[in-house]
Amino acid sequence: MRRLLVTGGAGFIGANFVHLHLREYPDDRVVVLDALTYAGNRANLAGLEGHPGFRFVHGDIREQERVEALLREERIDTVVHFAAESHVDRSIVGPDAFIETNVGGTHSLLKAARAVWLESDDAPADPLFHHVSTDEVYGSLEAGEAPFTEAHPYAPNSPYSASKAASDHLVRAYHHTYGLPVTTSNCSNNYGPYQFPEKLIPLMLINLLEGRSLPIYGDGRNVRDWLYVEDHNRAIERIIESGRRGEVYNIGGNCERTNLEIVERLCDLVEEAFGEDESLAARFPACPVVKGGHGRDLITYVKDRPGHDRRYAIDASRLRDELGFGPRESFDSGFRKTLRWYLENEAWWRAVMDGSYREWTRVQYGDC
Ligand code: NAD
Ligand code: TYD
Repeated sequence: MRRLLVTGGAGFIGANFVHLHLREYPDDRVVVLDALTYAGNRANLAGLEGHPGFRFVHGDIREQERVEALLREERIDTVVHFAAESHVDRSIVGPDAFIETNVGGTHSLLKAARAVWLESDDAPADPLFHHVSTDEVYGSLEAGEAPFTEAHPYAPNSPYSASKAASDHLVRAYHHTYGLPVTTSNCSNNYGPYQFPEKLIPLMLINLLEGRSLPIYGDGRNVRDWLYVEDHNRAIERIIESGRRGEVYNIGGNCERTNLEIVERLCDLVEEAFGEDESLAARFPACPVVKGGHGRDLITYVKDRPGHDRRYAIDASRLRDELGFGPRESFDSGFRKTLRWYLENEAWWRAVMDGSYREWTRVQYGDC
C-alpha cells in the first residue's frame, strides 16, 4: 500500500491520475494538494469525496512548512508532482507565475521531501519523488530530425518550457547531491477529459460545437506528438512501480500530427458523431454540420505564437524496453472518448468557460 501526495491533482492530468489510481489501487491513500488556480477545479475530483483513501488539501506547493507537516502527518511515501503553470501562451504574456510555481514551487517541494525523508528519524521505507515534466524542455525539431531521446540536449524556447527545464534540473540535482530518490518523466502533448478549454483540442472541439471559428496559429504545420491522458498516467504508474531511481523517462504517443491535421480529423469525427446521434443537432444548433456544412469551413489562420516551436517528437524506447510500456489508444480512439466526455459534461465546460465553476464549487465543497 502506498501513501501518495499528488500536487496539482485538481488540474487536467492530475485529476485523471487520481481517478485512475483510486480505481486501480482502492486501498492506497491519496492526498491532493492544489492551490486551485484558474486551471484547478475541485469539480474535477467529484465522486471521490466519500472515498476513505482520498483527501483534498487546498494549499500552495510553495508553503514548505505546510508541505513538510503534511508529509509527516500523512506518512507520505510517494510524491507525484503535477502542479504547475502549464499554458505556453500565458507564459508569453506573464512569465512570473511560471517561475514562481514551476521553479520556486518545485524547489520548495524538494526541500520539504529532503527534510522529511532524508533528515528525520521517521522517514518512510522506499520513498519516491516523481516529477512530471514535458518534452518541450528539449526545444524544437526540424522535419526529418530524430525524435527526442532522454539524452537530447535541453533547449527550452518559451518561458513555460524554460521554467519546466529549470525544475527538471533541480530534481536531478537533489538526487545527485543529496540522494533524494527521484524519477522524472517528460511527456508529449496530452488530451482527454477535464482539459481546460484554452488548449488546442478542447478549444477547437467546443468552438466547433458552438459554430465559432477555429483559430490556427501560423501556417498550421507545427507538429505535436499526441497522447491520450490515461496512457500518460499509466506510464507514470509504471515508472513509480518499477522505474530506476534517478532515471528520466520520455513518454510519447507515437502520434505525430500537424495542428491542421488534428483540427481536420477532429472536424470529421464530430461530423461522424452528429451522424450517429440525432439529438446533438438540437443541443448544438450552431455547429455547421447541422446546416449541412463542414467544421473545416470554420478554420481560420491567425497570427502565429511568438517563438512557436515547430516540431516535437518523442522517442519512448527506454520506457518500452525497460518497463514494457506502450500507449493503448490511437488518436481516433482517444479522441472519440474525449468527445463523448465533453458531450456528456457540457455543464462542466460551460461553467469553466464562464467562470461560474468557482462559485459552484464553493457551494459544493466550501472553501476547503
Ligand atoms: P493544469 O494547468 O491543467 O493543472 C495544473 C494544476 O496545478 C491546477 O490544478 C492548479 O490549480 C495547480 N497549481 C498551479 N500552481 C500551483 C501551486 N503553486 N501550488 C499548488 N497547486 C498549483 O496542467 P496539466 O495540463 O494537468 O499539467 C500537469 C503537469 O503535466 C504539469 O507539470 C505540466 O507541465 C505537465 N505536462 C503537461 C502536458 C499537457 O499536455 N498538458 C504534457 C506534458 C507534461
Ligand atoms: P497547446 O495546446 O497550447 O499546447 P503546446 O503549446 O504546449 O504544444 O497548443 C498545441 C499546438 O496548437 C501548438 O502548436 C499551438 C497550436 N494552437 C493553435 O494553432 N491554435 C490555438 O488556438 C491553440 C490554443 C494552440
